[in-house]
Amino acid sequence: MTAVDDQAIVSTLRFPPGFRWGTATAAYQIEGATREDGRTPSIWDTFSGTPGRVLNGDTGDIAADHRNRMPEDVALLRELGVTDYRFSVSWPRVQPTGRGPAVQRGLDFYRQLTDRLLEAGIRPVLTLYHWDLPQELEDAGGWPERDTAARFADYATLVAEALGDRVPMWTTLNEPWCSAFLGYGSGEHAPGRTDPAAALRAAHHLNLGHGLAVGALRDLLPDSADLSLVLNLAAVRGRSDSAADRDAVRRIEALANRIFLDPVFHAHYPRDLMEDTAGLTDWSFVRDGDLAQISRPIDVLGINYYSPTVVAAAAASPVAVPGRPVPQAPSAWPGTEGLVRFLPGEGPRTAMGWPVDAEGLVELLRRLHRELPRLPLMITENGAAYHDYADPSGAVHDPERIAYLESHLAAVHEAVRSGVDVRGYFLWSLLDNFEWAYGYSKRFGIVHVDFASQRRTLKDSARWYAALIADNRAAPGAPAPRHPHRRRR
Ligand code: FCB
Repeated sequence: MTAVDDQAIVSTLRFPPGFRWGTATAAYQIEGATREDGRTPSIWDTFSGTPGRVLNGDTGDIAADHRNRMPEDVALLRELGVTDYRFSVSWPRVQPTGRGPAVQRGLDFYRQLTDRLLEAGIRPVLTLYHWDLPQELEDAGGWPERDTAARFADYATLVAEALGDRVPMWTTLNEPWCSAFLGYGSGEHAPGRTDPAAALRAAHHLNLGHGLAVGALRDLLPDSADLSLVLNLAAVRGRSDSAADRDAVRRIEALANRIFLDPVFHAHYPRDLMEDTAGLTDWSFVRDGDLAQISRPIDVLGINYYSPTVVAAAAASPVAVPGRPVPQAPSAWPGTEGLVRFLPGEGPRTAMGWPVDAEGLVELLRRLHRELPRLPLMITENGAAYHDYADPSGAVHDPERIAYLESHLAAVHEAVRSGVDVRGYFLWSLLDNFEWAYGYSKRFGIVHVDFASQRRTLKDSARWYAALIADNRAAPGAPAPRHPHRRRR
């Protein structure tokens, strides 16, 4: 793609005035310095330190060294011209072991980060939990244990007491689906447990932790603070419209979406999900009063979207020998084993193997707006990994990422124009970083990081994004269609 083409694309996408433009990161993926500030290990330190868990044995020990290079990284954000920056606080850096008082040195790092952002005119958007549970809390049972929800609310209180005067937007959890079902179901993520009933308990206690934290934050933060939850909702498509394939869609939507949306917005769990999983658990971990806590109103729902999910009914159920359980690989989808098959989807693929399909994002946004018409939405993550490298001149050309971003921003634009209340877009990610079980093998950044020297280089996509933001800030598009007045509490 030539610079001229870039310009042509940039000039066509005009978002409403006030639309927020950001990038997103997460503490464990970029900070490094895992033994500084009195920080104790999180489940991701333990997991990545266990041979065979993360590709190439990579760990977050150094990552992008952001704990030590934060001023340089804020300068990059300023150069990009973003209006907002979404980052997460490392729980074990500010409350080692997950109990007791906060460590000021840890909090000081986030005070300095937010102050620098504010000085640069960038709005800090803080996520309290992006997967780095203190290991000591996992040793006490982790998210399948009810007490972890209470511990999370205490931690939220400590962070709000320290930063409540300067952070205008707060997110409780990032993608609780991954924490519950990859962490305790399939075991692909930390802590690497493979217990389907524990995964369902974890999902409920994550929901409860969210609700308790919202309560604590509302008590402490000014009225102007926006509270949110970030979900990686699945845009699920069936292979066909047959009754069997539609049932596969229903099962996956229940486990991916409705297990979070229903309690948070409607104060109940989906009845069909409880029936589908009745052989695994009786759901008695949901206690009286929990749903009232979980359904406290929030101001914004964050959506992380990468690609759609395509499913079909499984061709045939495994034949059970009477009296012997059918051996199954540990699953991230408890109760669907032998009933649902995941299909690869169509179109070009990113380096993650994920299909590029922006239509899924439009479908998801329209549907959410239909179901929750009064709820403002934000795209809190969207982006793509490609095999980027610096050429001999030092430049990093990533035309595929620009094409991915362009098509997905066009999708958001289309949704906004058709009346969906999307308030902003956060690109994943600012920097190349530790991509969880894939370690450093996948690069999602619009800024290239040479992990040997920690040198940062803007990729072409960073320049493209900066130009798009500059154009929109200078001359925004038409105002968004009018939305019903937002209500809270
Ligand atoms: C999301 C995570 C984020 C990043 C992207 C690629 O699921 O929230 O940390 O790894 O995927």
